Amino acid sequence: MKKILVTGGAGYIGSHTVVELVEAGYEPVIIDNFSNTEERSLQGIADILGGDVTCHRIDCTDTAALREVFEKETDIEGVIHFAAFKAVGESVDEPLKYYHNNVGSLVALLQVMKEFNVNKLVFSSSCTVYGIPAELPVTEQTPVQKANSPYGNTKKICEEILTDLATSGSDMYTTALRYFNPIGAHPSAKIGELPLGVPNNLVPFITQTAAGIREQLTIFGNDYDTPDGTCIRDYVHVVDLAKAHVVAIERLLSGKAGNIEFFNVGTGTGNTVLEAVQAFERATGEKLNYKIGPRRPGDVPKIFADVTKATEELGFKTTTTLEEAMKSAWDWQMHLKETAK
Ligand code: UD1
Repeated sequence: MKKILVTGGAGYIGSHTVVELVEAGYEPVIIDNFSNTEERSLQGIADILGGDVTCHRIDCTDTAALREVFEKETDIEGVIHFAAFKAVGESVDEPLKYYHNNVGSLVALLQVMKEFNVNKLVFSSSCTVYGIPAELPVTEQTPVQKANSPYGNTKKICEEILTDLATSGSDMYTTALRYFNPIGAHPSAKIGELPLGVPNNLVPFITQTAAGIREQLTIFGNDYDTPDGTCIRDYVHVVDLAKAHVVAIERLLSGKAGNIEFFNVGTGTGNTVLEAVQAFERATGEKLNYKIGPRRPGDVPKIFADVTKATEELGFKTTTTLEEAMKSAWDWQMHLKETAK
């Protein structure tokens, strides 16, 4: 079994990817510092798979600790790097925390990968690199723009670091996946998103409101140039996104990937915030308490992906509708409620 190191493997997208890796016949090894997730995600992974996955509790910016993991796990063939902070607002207030963690962890990881001759990497990027795009849908050729937040800038800088490395004559092979908006949870409802405190993202806020944890959802603006005035996003189910990582690492290991490649990972369809709310209501039968509020500073009015490249070159496809994704997010919220009793 090919061993794949998954940094941030106990997190939201990481935990789903670990499950898909095992189901595709790989042996994932997790590293995570549990700064933005909980031990229960490991339990959820073990419950789904019927056995534990190895996890090293280290910080990915810690070069010495990374080295120890690579010494212990002798035959790592590739790495999927998720470990990063992702709260846009917090990054504005604490930029250094974001540059240190998100950029520092990538640099530390690349150094140690080089020392141990591991040269296949899947990197977690974001559609945030496109800023406010002039044309939709965005393809991988759409120009990368100045980032709207320190968080967004860390993704842009990391892509640049990887590009510099690829053009430096090194033999590092990187596939950067630019995620659109990941939502939903594993169909087993044993793993899902575990937002700490008040969620920033739409779907956890919706499910927590419906569950009575939050009083009301505020929709940030209804005066955008969109059919119903609310922002447009491309909501991709987390299991579909997780599977994109499996095909990306497969392609890297088979030697078919270039030194540096970028792929959009979304559904190819844009939905407004109101459409997302309605999809949740239809999928669950729950009536959501929401109001319209002012725009959130920094929000991109509309963005959705052209996924032709990922479809043709990775064989990526989405299998889950927006309703199904919302239902899975709700099932996960209900699981959290049950297990909190
Ligand atoms: C943001 C980042 C994205 C990042 C992701 C990670 C930007 C422009 N986007 O995505 O790069 O990868 O976070 O967390 O920086 N909404 C509401 N009410 C709420 C919450 C959200 O109306 O309480 C709306 C937002 O205005 C937006 C949509 O829902 O239109 C999705 O918001 P969210 O889930 O926060 O994701 P993004 O802002 O798209």
